Formats: sequence, structure tokens, C-alpha cells
Amino acid sequence: MASRPRVILDCDPGVDDAMALITAARFADLVGITTVAGNVELEHTTANACRMRELLGLEVEVHSGAAGPLVGDQAFAHNVHGATGLGDLVLPNPEKGPDSENAVDWLIETTRAEEGIHLVPVGPLTNVALALRADPQLTDRVASVTLMGGAAVGVGNVTSVAEFNVYADPEAAAEVFRSRAPLAMLGLNLTHQVRMGSAHSEVCAALGTQVGDAMAQLLEFYTVFHLAEEQVVDGPIHDPCAVLAVTHPDLFEVAERNVRVEIDGTLTRGMTVIDERGPRAAEPANCRVAYRAHAERVIELIMQAVREA
Ligand code: RIB
Ligand code: CA
Repeated sequence: MASRPRVILDCDPGVDDAMALITAARFADLVGITTVAGNVELEHTTANACRMRELLGLEVEVHSGAAGPLVGDQAFAHNVHGATGLGDLVLPNPEKGPDSENAVDWLIETTRAEEGIHLVPVGPLTNVALALRADPQLTDRVASVTLMGGAAVGVGNVTSVAEFNVYADPEAAAEVFRSRAPLAMLGLNLTHQVRMGSAHSEVCAALGTQVGDAMAQLLEFYTVFHLAEEQVVDGPIHDPCAVLAVTHPDLFEVAERNVRVEIDGTLTRGMTVIDERGPRAAEPANCRVAYRAHAERVIELIMQAVREA
């Protein structure tokens, strides 16, 4: 069997971050987990990462990172993920807490010790930006920075044009997109193609396993929010897409684009501005932007990860 890609997941668990951890545990060779404030406060995203580590029986380190953005106040998403980040899923308090509170140092040291790791950020990009500031050569050592964030074609979820992970720290996102990192972007235009809901939750609950039960509860909570918010029965499953773009790249159609982040716009702060003009683009391409997903297969893999956890 081909070796699994080595992955560091930088996350803000978070309902769909928890699903990304389940997916990464099955299909990636998970090097470690770093946490950042985002969906909920850092203490909760970190505790949730530690809870998921124990639920999945992972023998990896968890390192907590930034408690807020580079500039300004933290935007949270308690309305989407619940007060403590995992909806109404109650997991035991972790027996083991984070291995350090120095995610940025750990990212630098780990990518110095081992080249070719895929860094997969699925929360605000604060940790990644701080690591790049401290060690710009990180861009040469990683196999990719494959992020869930932003959006093509002016889609947004916090505003009409801004996606949460970029909106929560636009300065960090702008620095990451200005870096020479080997970027791949799974934006809302892509993740909105991958939707799961109650039918999937019922299958997970019927497994009779702890991970199946957890996934069922995460999906139910998420579905209730999206039914109320968007009058849709299936919610977009964002973060696992970034993991599967690394482990199963053939399921995604990507194109080289120049992507920059708006930080000053009154209406557009946090927007990922993608130059779709081809040869007339103002700047060279700096990112592989995903436009199409084989959604049915992506969902099958997420369900397989739950089944085989
Ligand atoms: O906009 C969706 C993204 O914001 C996902 O990563 C979700 O977990 C939140 O962090
Ligand atoms: Ca997230």
C-alpha cells in the first residue's frame, strides 16, 4: 500500500475540524496537531483536539498556538459550533492536555527535522503566518500548505464575500498568500459541493461505535444549524476536504491562480481575491485553487473513516 502522506493538521475544533481529524486519522500519517482560536476560544479548540486525540486513540502531540488574530479582536463562530466547539457532543475531558503551548515553535522545529510534510490549516491562519515570519524557509521544507479557507467567485459565509478562516485573521491570511509557500486552497466554492446530513448521521449512529456516535451527533448539530440558517437539509463539510485534497488529490480539480487577501476594504475585508483572467492576470499564480470535487467519493471516504476508526 502506498505510504500515507505525512500531515500536520492546524485546526480550531470545531465540528468540521473534528470530522477532519477522523478523516486524517484514517487516511493520513498524522505527524501532529496544532490548535488556534477560531470557531471557539483557544482553550476549547485545544481541549477538543485533545478529546478527539483520545477518542481516536491517536499517539500524536497536540500543541496550542495563537489565542487571537495578528490584528484586532477574535471573531468566533459559537453559533455554528456551539459554546465549546463540538456542538452538543459531550466527550470526556481529556486525560492528557496539550504537549506545549508553543505551536509555532513546534511547527518550525518539526518541519526542520523532517522535510516533505503537508501542513493542512483548517482554521484561521495565525499560527502559519507566525511560523512563516519566524522562519520563511519553512516554505521550502513543506510538501504543501493545503488550506480550507477563502472562496472563489465572491462566495462568503461571514460576509457576502468573506469566509470565516480568512475573515477571522485577514492579515495572517494575506501574509500566507504573499509567502512562497506551495499553497492549495479549498474554498467555500469547493466545500459547498460536499454536503452531509441526517441520512449520514443515521448510518453513523447505526455503527454502534464511539466514533460513529460522535460523528452522528456532530452531523445532527451541524444539520440543525444549516437547516435554520440556509433552509438546507445537508450542511457543507468544509475541513475534511482539505485533508482529502492531500490524501486523495485525484478527487479534486484545481487550477493555478493568483490569490490575494483584501485587508482594507470596508465591504470586502477578508475576501480572497482570485485573478481569473488567465494570461492577463496581474500577478503570477501563487496557489492551486480547487474548483470541483468528486463529492460522492469524498463523502464515501469520510464515512469510511468513521466506519473504520
Ligand atoms: O468557513 C468554514 C471554516 O470556518 C471551517 O474551517 C470551520 O471549521 C470554520 O473554522
Ligand atoms: Ca475549522
